[in-house]
Amino acid sequence: MKVVTTRAELARARAEVGSLGLVPTMGYLHEGHLSLVRAARGANDAVAVSIFVNPTQFGEGEDFERYPRDPERDLALLAAEGVDLVWTPTVDDVYPPGSATRVSVSGITDVLEGASRPGHFTGVATVVAILLNATRADRAYFGQKDAQQVLVVRRMVEDLAIPTRIVTVPTFREADGLAMSSRNVYLDETQRAGATALVEALRAACREWTAGVRDGDALRAAMTEVLARQPQARPDYVSVADPDSLAELDTVDPTRGALCSLAVRFGTTRLIDNLLLEPEPAPCGNSAGR
Ligand code: PAF
Repeated sequence: MKVVTTRAELARARAEVGSLGLVPTMGYLHEGHLSLVRAARGANDAVAVSIFVNPTQFGEGEDFERYPRDPERDLALLAAEGVDLVWTPTVDDVYPPGSATRVSVSGITDVLEGASRPGHFTGVATVVAILLNATRADRAYFGQKDAQQVLVVRRMVEDLAIPTRIVTVPTFREADGLAMSSRNVYLDETQRAGATALVEALRAACREWTAGVRDGDALRAAMTEVLARQPQARPDYVSVADPDSLAELDTVDPTRGALCSLAVRFGTTRLIDNLLLEPEPAPCGNSAGR
């Protein structure tokens, strides 16, 4: 496994391999990241992982300084997965002195995480554009847990004609359903036990959906009720939105489905999760052809 830091070292190492799958990370790796690595392994000649805690996607007062870091453990995990290349740039490697360009995606960044964390997605879109361009990755792998991030990256890649295919990998969950996140480490024992309320809320909405409920408020209420039973949980948002535009829905079109998502604070820790309400297949008789 080759570990490189500068853009020049990266370019040299990149030139030595054929098709490349990139897993962009901020480190402090867990099974969720490794599931992205495994997905990349099957579809590319070589797998690269970037480890970079990107300062531009953290707002004032957020956890940039205390974001968990353990580079030695990360490298050992990646070596055990047979990763070919790891890029561990410094801030100056990613944003060289004089760097003045930011990538801003409008519309879908105004809501949900974008509304709660102003500037966050400009930081994400900018760093992902740099990571994709610098690695010249053929494919890049992102977790469905950050559903809005995936939409933003897909929009950015299409608009800027970046020739990397974006692959979404299902959310990796702990045995009790909690979505894996590097931030779970911030939770104390009681908060960790209560944090399953997120997935329980999403599953409650899914049960309503399966039972035929199509009213957006009723689906949101199903989630809010579950969260309300958890005294430590302070919901930031509870959303039932169009899976592409992220516009909140009054009524869910059964042929489009919806993205249920939520952000919930436990003390100073903010957790997010989501679940897609899958569209119903169109009735057979309605297709245009025979
Ligand atoms: O999802 C993350 O870990 C980060 O947002 C990413 C995509 C690595 C960009 O810094």
